[in-house]
Amino acid sequence: MNRQQPSPMPSHRYRDIFAKVPVAPVDRTWPDRRITAAPLWVPVDLRDGNQALAEPMDPERKREFFELMVAIGYKEIEVGYPSASQTDFDFVRLLATSDLVPDDVTIVVFTPARPDLIARTVESVAGMKGDVVIHMYAATAPVWRDVVLRKSRDELASMIYAGSEEIQRLAGDSVRFQFSPEVYNLTEPDYVLKLADRLTKQWDAAPERPVILNLPATIEAATPNVYADQIEYMHQNLPRRDGVILSVHPHNDRGTGIACAELAVLAGAQRVEGCIFGNGERTGNVDIATLALNLHAQGVDPMIDFSDIDGIRAVVEHCTRMPIHPRHPYVGELVYTAFSGTHQDAIRKGFAVQDDGLWEVPYLPIDPADVGRGYEAVVRVNSQSGKGGIAHVLESVYGIKLSDEREFARHVQRRTDETGREATASELKALYEEVYGCSN
Ligand code: KIV
Ligand code: ZN
Repeated sequence: MNRQQPSPMPSHRYRDIFAKVPVAPVDRTWPDRRITAAPLWVPVDLRDGNQALAEPMDPERKREFFELMVAIGYKEIEVGYPSASQTDFDFVRLLATSDLVPDDVTIVVFTPARPDLIARTVESVAGMKGDVVIHMYAATAPVWRDVVLRKSRDELASMIYAGSEEIQRLAGDSVRFQFSPEVYNLTEPDYVLKLADRLTKQWDAAPERPVILNLPATIEAATPNVYADQIEYMHQNLPRRDGVILSVHPHNDRGTGIACAELAVLAGAQRVEGCIFGNGERTGNVDIATLALNLHAQGVDPMIDFSDIDGIRAVVEHCTRMPIHPRHPYVGELVYTAFSGTHQDAIRKGFAVQDDGLWEVPYLPIDPADVGRGYEAVVRVNSQSGKGGIAHVLESVYGIKLSDEREFARHVQRRTDETGREATASELKALYEEVYGCSN
């Protein structure tokens, strides 16, 4: 057997998470739990997603995106960072002075813990009807404290308390409060607990008027089980727990944002922030469409409507000016398609016995029709394909039943090997007529 060799990569320059931050001492229960209900989804496409675009959304795009989010059923939407740009400020003013916000939708605006920027943020939401959340953040992890902010734990805590008091002074009871210790996943858990204790006391956190504590994995830094432990630690130890909505905000640097969000929900998170198809800084925010449709695929109502996924995709691509990958879960062009012969054969057999009851078609985790897709693309033929797939295409598209599937597959194989290309349904039909005439 061949042995793997040490690589020339400078891996010694990195440390794992446990060398950077104390372990959250948790009596974990999340591994034995199941997700049985959707968390509250909060899209941050218009803030975090927008901040990551080469060309941030103009007012028309912001509005189109906002209307899409309302239409598909989001009930809490982060709409911008009004102190950071005039476009964001004006957009929040548009929402406050028009009837674009339905009564049952809560608007969230984002601000750093700085008095001048807080004042501008509060000004932006004046007159907004319905629930408004002011979301204040400050980076709390040691590297950010030491290198970026140059503040001790106590100095930073004072800045955070002052910001929170300023919001209360300026906005009083007209808003709810959200706090994010940015880079929570690399912050000492006891420090965040202390901050949360003081902030929830100050806001008198109660079930009727809860404070949102949002715990971001701003940069993914560990396997998802570690994040789940960090969330369960807060879930178990937070004072005034019933007056707090525990929220998570995973990014996707290690490609495990989805797993982090799902395990965090098992660990007690009630609210998940992300972007519809995972736009966001670097590798993106966690992808809410995938999270929601993962629930759908296990029989849990996602409480959000992706039944026209291609319509949603068109708006998202237009507004972000970014294409969606053909293999992107649930929405990519190729994700309900089989090219390989064995998969095609199994799908064909699955369709043959499928009724309107439980969905059990091999290799198709959900019925493409649930998200508004047809069945034409489910089987596509190239040199990897087999007789079952070829017969399925001719039969489903043209009603042609082959008398000898194996023989015709040999003709197709020869043709696709020669061309190296996919054979479309109409090319298969033309070949069929060439081989058998029209009367077979
Ligand atoms: O990723 C992040 O930490 C954020 C905020 C919630 C601060 O976008
Ligand atoms: Zn973020």
